[in-house]
Amino acid sequence: MKKLVILTGAGMSAESGISTFRDSGGLWEQYRVEDVATIEGYIRNPELVINFYNERRRQLPAVKPCRGHELVAALEQYFDVTVITQNVDNLHERAGSTKVIHLHGELMKATSTRNPNDPSQIITLDADHMDIHMGDKAADGSQLRPFIVWFGEAVPEIERAAEVSSEADIYVVIGTSLNVYPAAGLVQFVPERAPIYLIDPKDVPWTANHRFRHIKKGASEGMEELTKMLKLIAED
Ligand code: APR
Repeated sequence: MKKLVILTGAGMSAESGISTFRDSGGLWEQYRVEDVATIEGYIRNPELVINFYNERRRQLPAVKPCRGHELVAALEQYFDVTVITQNVDNLHERAGSTKVIHLHGELMKATSTRNPNDPSQIITLDADHMDIHMGDKAADGSQLRPFIVWFGEAVPEIERAAEVSSEADIYVVIGTSLNVYPAAGLVQFVPERAPIYLIDPKDVPWTANHRFRHIKKGASEGMEELTKMLKLIAED
């Protein structure tokens, strides 16, 4: 089966009701990034950051995968699909995608403040345990923190994501402004032979790059259109 790699951002979950970051009304208009999404902000005021992510985590049970998530998962019938997402929600998995690389962490997980990327420190939160509180401890005794990659921190999954991108036969980018590195740099790893499709209702800086075939629609409508096109490719 051909390898299909799909890089997604906040726009992928917009139609599920989760706000994006940089659209009007986005998260970064309501909060200062430096207060809630940087390692410095967490060190300065851990309780503010822990509560910011508690609030976002509490929204999750009420939202569900959109048609776009479902169509991404359905492509696994025709391709060897890997999803590389910048999103911290679990909507790709809930829609049925089986190979998902989370570049920026996962809202439903928590970890150690001292060793955040030590697998033995990572725990999965659930409906009965949605909030992290000051004083909650990880296995190593340090404060339990959100399993989120903040600005200023390493992106442990970027090497794997770059390798997967370099092996793509077809590449799809859905719902990301490609503002944030190293995620935005992944398109550079895509082999020349692989077509790159972009699904986004707006132009993003990269559309100036002739390599993109831009489907200027939302995630769900765009995936309807792309699925028809890809099914033809899968058959040849
Ligand atoms: N369908 C598809 N795309 C959409 C939709 C939609 N319904 N609505 C908006 N978009 C597009 C916007 O046009 C924009 O290009 O989704 C993109 C959202 O961009 P951002 O808000 O910047 O989100 P993202 O690119 O995922 O941000 C990357 O920044 O703050 C950090 O860690 C955070 O992972 C996030 C990273």
